[in-house]
Amino acid sequence: MAAKSRQRILSGMRPSGRLHLGHMHGVLDNWRQLQNQFECFFFVADWHALTTNYDRPWTIPASIDDMVLDWLAAGIDPQKATIFVQSDIKEHAELNLLLSMITPVSWLERNPTYKEQQQQLKERDLATFGFLGYPVLQAADIIMYKANKVPVGVDQLPHVELTREITRRFNYLYRDVFPVPEAMLTEVPKLPGLDGRKMSKSYGNSIYLNDSEEDVARRISTMVTDVERPRKSDPGDPANRCVAFNLHRLYMEKSRLAEIEADCKAARIGCVVCKKELARAVNSAMEPLRERRREFAADPGTVKRILAEGAEKAREVARNTMEEVRQVLFAGPAGSGGKNDAGDKE
Ligand code: TRP
Ligand code: SF4
Repeated sequence: MAAKSRQRILSGMRPSGRLHLGHMHGVLDNWRQLQNQFECFFFVADWHALTTNYDRPWTIPASIDDMVLDWLAAGIDPQKATIFVQSDIKEHAELNLLLSMITPVSWLERNPTYKEQQQQLKERDLATFGFLGYPVLQAADIIMYKANKVPVGVDQLPHVELTREITRRFNYLYRDVFPVPEAMLTEVPKLPGLDGRKMSKSYGNSIYLNDSEEDVARRISTMVTDVERPRKSDPGDPANRCVAFNLHRLYMEKSRLAEIEADCKAARIGCVVCKKELARAVNSAMEPLRERRREFAADPGTVKRILAEGAEKAREVARNTMEEVRQVLFAGPAGSGGKNDAGDKE
């Protein structure tokens, strides 16, 4: 397929420091496949991180590097995808400003994510202009690259919907500059944390992509198993009652998985041994990640260089988009052949 006709994909993550297996299976596996098929832009949304961390912005730069190293370890390939940091491309701020002029406040206030997050992060004052405008900046991120598809988790759907509305409004008011992007829903396999709750950094129940073999073995050994099976002689019900078994499903060979299930049900296998075997399987799946991390981390300048190159590619697209946008907005009816040529028709 000719490069030009390829669909363009854009997605981003806020820099939250090191990533865990939930990110791996939820997002990064998906990105890694997409980069082979589409023209991909993957970026670090560090300005978005400011909306909730404005009281300690100095913690953000280290988180960026840690996260990008995890991306690279997970197989996101700078030869295939453009990897960059939002704040390196100042055009995002300009487009954000222009879009903010045409976005009704009511659209932002009714955004469910906005209300939820304000509830959840009660200890922080999120009644800021920047936080309310979070989805406008996200719209700028997306349409800057004229992305067709935005792979995201279900929690991000309201944001992408707002992007679509803002895009339509822009195209209607001025000219048909931007494709209306579509969300591409990322399937998240059920991957609970060590304690059975959702895997999340804030619960301290995660297995991290940069965990050593020993870390992984130790964490898995603490994983919750079938609570109705305190002794090895009690028959288990792994599929319904064992948290660890969710990892077995992802990491064990099919045939071995069936054996474990049968052995557990028949009380032929104990949890300690069973989880040791699981840890070995997880560790061997993580070995290629560790190998890539070692390569990328060997030279501390590597991540910086990759981000600089990515920024250059992204900037070229962003500059072109902004030239077009300024032209459409400000060159006036004669110059732009804009929508409201007659000036006072509407
Ligand atoms: N809001 C996204 C998140 O929290 C991050 C993000 C910012 C994003 N801009 C984006 C995702 C553009 C996709 C496209 O995960
Ligand atoms: Fe879970 Fe394995 Fe224990 Fe069965 S034996 S409850 S599958 S850890």
